[in-house]
Amino acid sequence: MQTGQGLLRGRVAVVTGSSRGLGFAMAELLGAEGAAVVLASRSAADAEAAAARLRAEGITASGLRCDTAELADVESLRDEALRLGGLDIWVNNAGVSGVYGPTASTPVDDFTRVVRTNILGTFHGSRVALPVMLGQGHGDLVNLYGQGDGGPVPLQNAYASSKRWVRQFTETLRRETRGTGVRVHGMNPGLVETDLLRHTRSQSGYEKRLSALQVVVGLWGQDPEAAAKPLLGLVTSDAAAYRDLTPTRLLSRGARSVLAGRLRRSHRMPLDITVVEPER
Ligand SMILES: NC(=O)c1ccc[n+]([C@@H]2O[C@H](COP(=O)([O-])OP(=O)(O)OC[C@H]3O[C@@H](n4cnc5c(N)ncnc54)[C@H](OP(=O)(O)O)[C@@H]3O)[C@@H](O)[C@H]2O)c1
Repeated sequence: MQTGQGLLRGRVAVVTGSSRGLGFAMAELLGAEGAAVVLASRSAADAEAAAARLRAEGITASGLRCDTAELADVESLRDEALRLGGLDIWVNNAGVSGVYGPTASTPVDDFTRVVRTNILGTFHGSRVALPVMLGQGHGDLVNLYGQGDGGPVPLQNAYASSKRWVRQFTETLRRETRGTGVRVHGMNPGLVETDLLRHTRSQSGYEKRLSALQVVVGLWGQDPEAAAKPLLGLVTSDAAAYRDLTPTRLLSRGARSVLAGRLRRSHRMPLDITVVEPER
């Protein structure tokens, strides 16, 4: 879909977790189509800096501190959107990865952190946005899928099973809102070159296995701007979901990446792995 057409003029969008990475690229994309955008992250300064970048591009944007695990924070995003004129689009983007390694020795606090952001945060965003959207008879809610939404991923159980939950939750919401004018979508952006992939944590003894990630990202990764683009197709249609890494895209992007030399050591995404002790 062509971008920059003013397709969302007059609309207001909220994107959680949008101080950087895919969330920022999605906020910029929606803003470039004319939407006013509420950006948010747990750091007030980062959220405000991200909003200022969009304002410098001529986009109406506010940046707020919000931890999506806290209902009151999420409600403040809704209030800011209504202050800007309405609530038409809500993207539950905020997400974190867990420590790589077996579930039996995964740090308990880390598992809880993933659940609080990926599961509770998605519930809070949906719970806050849907009453407004149902009341007005329109709106687009988008939840972020990810690796594991289709089945088990050993050694990444916290993240993968949280994304499986997000998918089932989203598909259920889609059924519950059928015929209301509210459209609920899921989006799996594939591999996106962001901090989520660059800064990983591994249980001691498992870190070597993560080095293959650089090759995988070299073959199939995308920059956040490219990965964000399908969002526009979702919020301007009733499509149930977008999935990036289909077999066709795996083949074509993989071939293009090899030809472009993205597998050379000098072209690889730098990987910063923090090793943590397993919890017994
Ligand atoms: N990168 C990939 O390859 C990939 C693939 C599939 C799906 N996804 C999904 O895409 C989404 C965005 O990922 P990303 O790669 O862009 O991650 P990222 O670069 O790490 O950015 C995450 C953003 O979310 C914010 N955030 C984290 N926890 C939060 C919380 N509890 N409340 C509010 N904001 C929070 C971060 O800011 P603060 O830390 O300051 O809060 C940051 O703005 C996630 O849902 C992820 O699972 C990513």
